[in-house]
Amino acid sequence: MSRIAYVAGQYVMHRQAAVHIEDRGYQFADGVYEVIAVNRGHLVDEAPHLARLHRSLAELRIAAPMVDGALQIVIREVVRRNGVDTGIVYLQVTRGAAPREHAFPKAAKPTLVVTARRTRPPDPRLGEDGIAIITIPDIRWQRCDIKSVALIANVLGKQQAREKGAYEAWQVDRAGEITEGTSTNAWIVTADGTVVTRAADTAILNGVTRLAVFDIIRREGYRLEERPFTVAEAKAAREAFLTSTTADLLPVVRIDGAPVGEGRPGPLGQQLRAAYFAHAGAAA
Ligand code: PDD
Repeated sequence: MSRIAYVAGQYVMHRQAAVHIEDRGYQFADGVYEVIAVNRGHLVDEAPHLARLHRSLAELRIAAPMVDGALQIVIREVVRRNGVDTGIVYLQVTRGAAPREHAFPKAAKPTLVVTARRTRPPDPRLGEDGIAIITIPDIRWQRCDIKSVALIANVLGKQQAREKGAYEAWQVDRAGEITEGTSTNAWIVTADGTVVTRAADTAILNGVTRLAVFDIIRREGYRLEERPFTVAEAKAAREAFLTSTTADLLPVVRIDGAPVGEGRPGPLGQQLRAAYFAHAGAAA
């Protein structure tokens, strides 16, 4: 089956899909995006993803390319045309194409791109054995709450992780506190069993997976603290894990080469992971 993309009003062959060279997404990273998981034909947490898209657009003063009802039809159509039963939808909105000039163009029409692809089931060993992460300085801008396509610092951080044989890099602010991963939110479990993750300030993206895990924590009656934690606290934690749409919830068992707890996935993280899979309608 040939892949199909939705680009600025048309369904086109994915391999020929293109936007204008003066699209502001290309020239200035002047745009935002969302990644939504598809599990057995179902869009996971579609509503909070669309709500966050609107928030990101509003923060950058980019007009919504269409009303939500129409956007939801396009998303479903792209999923259908690509035969995606389990995979991801990628949605991107830029300020549009205009002669290059930093200030907003007077009349640019936002460019909407929607793609979807099937994904292979994640390697079960990641969940069973856990993953390693490294820590790196957070060199990003001060509005990481906006899901902007300006991801160069995240790209460099993830590459550093790959080159060190790690799954992810947790970024550390000037106070020595962890903000988040390059494409995931960061969590620890303290010695007394409290789940800790940074509050959704402007230093992190308020993950949709993060919010779903909050609901599970509240429902199950676990203790939750939204506060920053340092690298030293993470290394001394009983458990650690990360969350995102594409990673789901993965146990972190090594930080900068040192084991977290016993160096094995901890029980609380594994319970949250199973509960998250149930929420997302996915096989654990
Ligand atoms: N990344 N933090 C950052 C910097 C992210 O890029 C992401 C998501 C998250 C987790 O958000 P959510 O739970 O809503 O997926 C946190 C997506 C998946 C990506 O860029 O591919």
